Amino acid sequence: MIEKGNMMAKEQASIITIFGGSGDLARRKLYPALYQLYHRGFLGEHFAVIGTARRPWSDDFYRDIVRTSLQGEPNTDDRSVKHFADHFYYQSHDVTDAEHYVTLKKLAAKLDADYEAEGNRLFYMAMAPRFFGTIASHIRSENLLSETGYNRLIIEKPFGRDFASAKELNDSISAAFTENQIYRIDHYLGKEMVQGLLALRFTNPLLTPIWNKDYISDVQITLAEKVGVEERAGYYETAGALRDMVQNHIMQLIAYVAMEQPATFTPAAVHAAKNKLFTHLPVLTPEQAKRDWVRGQYSASPSQLGYRNEDNVDPESMTETYVAGRIELDDPRWAGVPFFVRTGKRLPAKSTQISINFRPLEHNIFDTVGCNNARVNRLTVFIEPQQGYTLTLNGKTLGASYELEQNALSFVHNQDEINGAPEAYERLIGDALAGDQTNFTRWAEQEHTWNYIDVIRNVWDNSTDLPMYTAGTPGPAEGDALLSRDGFAWAEDFGLQK
Ligand SMILES: NC(=O)c1ccc[n+]([C@@H]2O[C@H](COP(=O)([O-])OP(=O)(O)OC[C@H]3O[C@@H](n4cnc5c(N)ncnc54)[C@H](OP(=O)(O)O)[C@@H]3O)[C@@H](O)[C@H]2O)c1
Repeated sequence: MIEKGNMMAKEQASIITIFGGSGDLARRKLYPALYQLYHRGFLGEHFAVIGTARRPWSDDFYRDIVRTSLQGEPNTDDRSVKHFADHFYYQSHDVTDAEHYVTLKKLAAKLDADYEAEGNRLFYMAMAPRFFGTIASHIRSENLLSETGYNRLIIEKPFGRDFASAKELNDSISAAFTENQIYRIDHYLGKEMVQGLLALRFTNPLLTPIWNKDYISDVQITLAEKVGVEERAGYYETAGALRDMVQNHIMQLIAYVAMEQPATFTPAAVHAAKNKLFTHLPVLTPEQAKRDWVRGQYSASPSQLGYRNEDNVDPESMTETYVAGRIELDDPRWAGVPFFVRTGKRLPAKSTQISINFRPLEHNIFDTVGCNNARVNRLTVFIEPQQGYTLTLNGKTLGASYELEQNALSFVHNQDEINGAPEAYERLIGDALAGDQTNFTRWAEQEHTWNYIDVIRNVWDNSTDLPMYTAGTPGPAEGDALLSRDGFAWAEDFGLQK
């Protein structure tokens, strides 16, 4: 049984192979995350990491790279960093070359004996997705899977670029790993307040009974970035905001907001609840996609480049850097409640938040006596950069007259606590080592969400309509019109005056 309360308490034994060990993700996220697991004692003496990539590095050079990647990380000192890095080994390897897998297998077996890793193997695909299938089939054909311990695979986003490619990818990794061995990363599921959302929803008698269409008028999810495309234009030009943010992160957040209460807090029960929810995500018609989804692209402001002027971007690019949509689930709990979502680059502020807007009371005793400026109650969950939540209630202003005002009950995690909590990758790698799939996505979820997204993508790919918004502004007016059409407005105003 998985002891969630005890996560990161028991030292884990494993040989961790990172394909793409010299890459950006490995250096920026994976090595710091593994270090923090080491610092907590979750990894100790019984683990080793094999980094593989084509460049011909030595173990010593690789360990230098690992040490460098930890500069500025919390909880580091020279001695611990050195002991940690001594667990790292490098194998130069072209993933298309079968012979190198034999060398990898021998190295893993030797390290398993040296570190008493109990035959456990964790494979991490930190490379471009086009290699995932090749790696999986070689792991199988060259027999890299352990017969004495567990075999687990962590796989990065993007998981395909449409349903057909996602299925092809899934078929290829399924040839070597079963669904229970595959850990598909969506790093939003590792974020503290996304985890916290489940606690809010399922432990508060104040909230649980009213979490439905009778009490909630609309749900809003914003994933806003202040930055532009930065150095990722090569990837972003082929992805766009819809694939990059909506199919995965936004859909996963919708699942956590909207799913029925899982029978227990176990991977199987949580995934069953999510999967059921996604069966209530109706596939759109092209007309519905046109009506309920809008895209945009940032244009230059006096101080910032437009998307089409960024390095490695086609000057006539039709790639969307902004998406807003209106989703309606067809299950009994949510029928008729719009879920408004938006995400974009070069918006006024970095902000990820979820707002739950409650319906006004049908009868209000203040209606007839001239002091009814009651507003809707709202629960806002701040995921980043601030982490916490606010519940707004109506109260009376101080003083002799009877005026109403909106008061906020707020909880914000302080920065020291945030710094001490596991970062998303640390939590997720820890989960994979512990064998807990709760915070990973399953194939059925990918299937539903890609089928939904593909319709929107096809509509846009056959259209020349691409609204522009000036860099640093809250996105195109079409994104606001989606809400005003139903009598709503975005709750998040990025600190700007409305
Ligand atoms: N970077 C991020 O922040 C981030 C965030 C989310 C998801 N991801 C995903 O994570 C994955 C890796 O991204 P990344 O940014 O780390 O990419 P990257 O910096 O380009 O790294 C790619 C790695 O693959 C290796 N490689 C390339 N061709 C190879 C081959 N034929 N055989 C063996 N190794 C090969 C490269 O090393 P050599 O050149 O030495 O072979 C390098 O280590 C991608 O799926 C990406 O979408 C990345």
